[in-house]
Amino acid sequence: MEIFKTPETLHAWCADQKRQGFKIGLVPTMGNLHEGHMSLIREAKQYCDKVVVSIFVNPTQFAPNEDYDNYPRTEVVDCEKCEAEGAAAAFLPAPEVLYATDASTWVHETELERGYCGAQRPIHFRGVCTVVAKLFNIVQPEIAVFGQKDFQQVAVISRMVRDLSYPIQIIRAPIVREADGLAMSSRNAYLSAEQRVKALSLSRALFAAQKSVAEGERDSHTLEAAIRAEVVANDWLPDYVNVIDSATLMPIEKVVPGASAILLACRCGGLRLIDNVLL
Ligand code: PAF
Repeated sequence: MEIFKTPETLHAWCADQKRQGFKIGLVPTMGNLHEGHMSLIREAKQYCDKVVVSIFVNPTQFAPNEDYDNYPRTEVVDCEKCEAEGAAAAFLPAPEVLYATDASTWVHETELERGYCGAQRPIHFRGVCTVVAKLFNIVQPEIAVFGQKDFQQVAVISRMVRDLSYPIQIIRAPIVREADGLAMSSRNAYLSAEQRVKALSLSRALFAAQKSVAEGERDSHTLEAAIRAEVVANDWLPDYVNVIDSATLMPIEKVVPGASAILLACRCGGLRLIDNVLL
């Protein structure tokens, strides 16, 4: 596996691969790779010949009070995992290599970023779109894979791709869960043993809602109230629980099976977890 640290060297390599007729796929990550990320690489391999994995803790998507400095950085192991999974290249730029100190240009999706995580983290999606646009420009992949766990993120990036006419197909990969249901996340490493047990209430509540819908429940408020009750009883405080239209992300009163989802974000102590299910 090739390892690149600068945009110029990665761009030249990608251009060369394309000249040779290879189709390139991009898996953007912030490292600290777990099985969820490995599933993104496997997914990408289904659609392309050469998978490029970016490993970059992107400073512009963290607010000053967030965990940028403490975000787990495990680059050596991450590269080993990418190679074992069959990635062709990894990109690990230093922040000052990717961003000029006087960088003043942003990519800002302004509609789908409102609400949910965007409301709690006002600069977050602007930072995500900017770095993903930069990665798209450097790699110029034909496909890019993002996890469904960050439901709003995939929606925002898909909108950016459409609005800026990037000739890139966005692939949504399903959430990968621990055997007990907890959605995989690098931030799970921060959970104490007790928080970890109680965090199972998030997926449990979402699965129960899915079951209720399968049994005929359609009322969003009933579903949301049951989810709130379950997580609050386990000391997780919801930032938001919303039944939404999965395309527009707008809250809806009644579930439309096949076109709805539930988004959930909860806090416990200084920790925040997100999860979602399709209905
Ligand atoms: O989902 C993430 O890990 C990040 O938001 C992403 C897409 C790699 C951009 O930094």
